[in-house]
This record gives sequence, C-alpha cells and structure tokens, in this order.
Amino acid sequence: MRKGLFFPNDFKWGVSTAAYQIEGAWNEDGKSESIWDVYCRKEGAILDGSNGNVACDHYHRFKEDIDLMASMNIKSYRLSISWCRIIPTGIGEINKKGLKFYDDVINYCLSKNIEPMITLYHWDLPQILEEMGGVCADEFPQWFKEYALVVINYFKDRVKYFATINQPFSIYRAYSEDKRAPARGIPKLGMIATSNLLYAHGLIVKKVKEEKMDIDIGIVINLVYIIPLTNNEKDVKAARMREAITNEMFYMPILKGCFPKEVVDYADSLGIDKKYFHSNDRMKIMSCPVDFLGVNYYQRGLTTFDPENKMLFLPITKADAGEFTETGREIYPDGLQYVLEIIDKISPGMPIYITENGADIRKNLLLDDERINYISKHLLVLNTACKKGINVKGYYIWTLIDNFEWENGYTSKYGMVAINKNLERIPKKSAFWYSEVIKSNGELILDKGGKWEIPV
Ligand code: BGC
Repeated sequence: MRKGLFFPNDFKWGVSTAAYQIEGAWNEDGKSESIWDVYCRKEGAILDGSNGNVACDHYHRFKEDIDLMASMNIKSYRLSISWCRIIPTGIGEINKKGLKFYDDVINYCLSKNIEPMITLYHWDLPQILEEMGGVCADEFPQWFKEYALVVINYFKDRVKYFATINQPFSIYRAYSEDKRAPARGIPKLGMIATSNLLYAHGLIVKKVKEEKMDIDIGIVINLVYIIPLTNNEKDVKAARMREAITNEMFYMPILKGCFPKEVVDYADSLGIDKKYFHSNDRMKIMSCPVDFLGVNYYQRGLTTFDPENKMLFLPITKADAGEFTETGREIYPDGLQYVLEIIDKISPGMPIYITENGADIRKNLLLDDERINYISKHLLVLNTACKKGINVKGYYIWTLIDNFEWENGYTSKYGMVAINKNLERIPKKSAFWYSEVIKSNGELILDKGGKWEIPV
C-alpha cells in the first residue's frame, strides 16, 4: 500500500466494454449483421474459430453485470452502442427495440449511481453499409452523423459523455491490412477511411456545439509510446514514421488542425484524391474543438527500419529485454506519462480520460496478481501526471469480463471477472482489489510489485 497519492475527489474510476465483444444476441430484436458477424465466418479469421454470437450474453444479463460493477464500487461505465441495433439498415428507420435495450442498460446504471459514458462506434459497422463502400464511401460521414444524432438526442437527457469513435487507428488498419473486419487490405483505403472518420467525428462535434447541447463530446484514440530500437539513423526515421501514422495522424488534425507532413506525403504517394488530406474546409470540421480526449494506452512500441514495408517501419513485438503481455504488448507504464505530456503540451488543460488500459493475463486465471501489478504501475504513473497538473479526469480498465477479443477470439483474458461455459461470472482477485482501490480513491495502489491479499 502506498500513501500520499492524489487523485481528484471526483475522479471517475471506471471500466470499459464494447458491444460486439460482450453482448451476443447477434440477431435478436431486429439487429442486423455487422462486419464482425460476417468476418468471423471467414475460415481462419479468428484464432479459436469463435464469434460474438453469444459472447458474454450481456444482452440478457446486463443487470447482473451492472450489479457486479456496483459491487466493485465502479463509478463510471464506458459502453459502446451497436449501430446495427439502432438502425439495422444502416441509414433510415430506427429500431425501437434496439434503443430500448440501451435505455434499460443506462437506466439501470443510473439507478446504481454508475455514470455511463457512451462510445458511438466501436468497430461494428452494419454490413449493409460496408457493401456500399463502408467507411471509405463518400456518404459515410453523413451516415454516421445521422446514426450518432439518433443516439445523442435520445440519451442526452441522461448521459453527459459521448465519444464518437473508438481508436480510428485500428479502423485505418482494418481497411489497409487484411486482418480484422472488414480486412480490405488496401493501403489507399486505410488512408481514405482515416480522413472520413475524422471528418465524420468533426461533423458531430460541430452539430453538438451549434445546437448548444448540454453534453461533453470527444473521441477515443490509442496512443503508443514509440521509440526507435537503436539510435541508428534508419531506425530513428522508421520510428518517426510510425509516430506520424499511429499517433499524430489522429491527434494533430483534432487538436492542432493539421496533418503531419509524413502523413500527407504518404497519402500523396498513394495517389489519393487531394480532398482527403489537403482540404482546408474538411480540416476545419475535423478540428472542431472537443470537450475531452479519451486515451487508450497499452504499450510501448519499439520500432526498427524495414526495407520490405512501404512505410519503412517494423513494430517489434518481442525484444530481448522488456516485459510483454500474452498478446505481445510491451508493458511500459512510463510511456503513459510521455503520451499525456504530448497532449497536454498541445492542448494545455484538455480534460483527458484514460478510456482503456489493461492486460491480457492468462496464467493463474483467478489469482491474477500480474494484472494487479500492471494496473498498479500505470495508476502510479497516472497519479504523477495528475500531480503535475495534467487534467486527467478518469481511468477505465479494459475490461470488466473476459470477452470476445477480436481476432484472438476467447483466448485472451483481459477481464477482472472470468466467465465459465455456463456463462457464470466469477470475479478474479483483481476485481476485489480494484473495488478497494476505488473505495480508497487510489490509496490502495500497490507499489513495485507489492502483494495484496483479499481481506477475509
Ligand atoms: C480495443 C478493445 C480491445 C482491447 C484489447 C483496444 O484496442 O479498443 O476493443 O479489446 O484493445 O486488445
């Protein structure tokens, strides 16, 4: 136990989930297919051949899950909404049963004093829209605006925090590479998707501001602490390129109103229409001021030069030194401080939520001390950031329950709660620990691998 920590009194201690990863009920109450429903059927796409058809069955067991959160003293719950439930045809008619589900979830959270934060889009695009070009379609920003406004207008009397998109970088990858839905595998499409996502995000921010809605609107980006593997000039350049594509391509337009030069040059080298990366009108929309920034932080990204890759960088997932999680992410808590400082320097005082942080810990399923250590180390760094005056307002662990972890299926274990074949929830040690951390407003964070035992 470590004394003398300082977290603001209204600090939001939370957990994050995403619709496709937990809900199941893939074809119930009018929900249409998402790109993930379709992608999971592809031979070899998912490590264990699974899908999100049932997932954690949260659709039918949300009360139990919210009760669990309440028992863990969770103050805020970040959930995502499935577009396919709200507007099954992607655009057009609203499905009342879809809205009703989230209505029930949100009302139940509120009845337990848990504040919801809504993510409007966490990767589960209606398949029907993908068939019309998906995120790369010229119409995408309008489609997204229409859907987002249905959700915002419906819930704005009860929900204050809305994030437009989760990790646009991952969506960029899903269009430029051939892994993760829709796995289009065309670099040019990845860049077009990026521009469209940022533009769609901006259109909504603009609308919320014009209408003076009483909500806080932001976006969730993932930031990786990127450094070159060696000081050799080629590695340094490779790391610079990775920084531009992974991090700056998203926060620079939103916070600074421009793209980094490397990104524009890369788009030009692919022969992309100038409107995507050169238009001032579009940039004006992309940079509409947000009320907060959500940051997902998981890892450091060691990087080396790779002549085979068009972008000339290669992420290193296993190096000789360093500690890695089961999914090959390098554990590097100090990187969190570094990325927060960058954001705070560009937008001093910007309210920041750590909207995701967590680890895939598979051994000792229920006695998950490694997770407790991972989270502790990050919280200590976060506390330093708070003390230095960075405006961090909340921290959300990824995630509540072991769930469908995209291409890893159910093999990854990011949850503080395990789930068995009968879908029974079994809290792990970390769940008990986190509830005590919250109760003590952070005082119970462990220092340097200290041990904590569940009180009897
Ligand atoms: C995503 C989650 C995912 C988590 C763990 C984040 O990048 O937003 O959906 O499950 O990482 O890999």
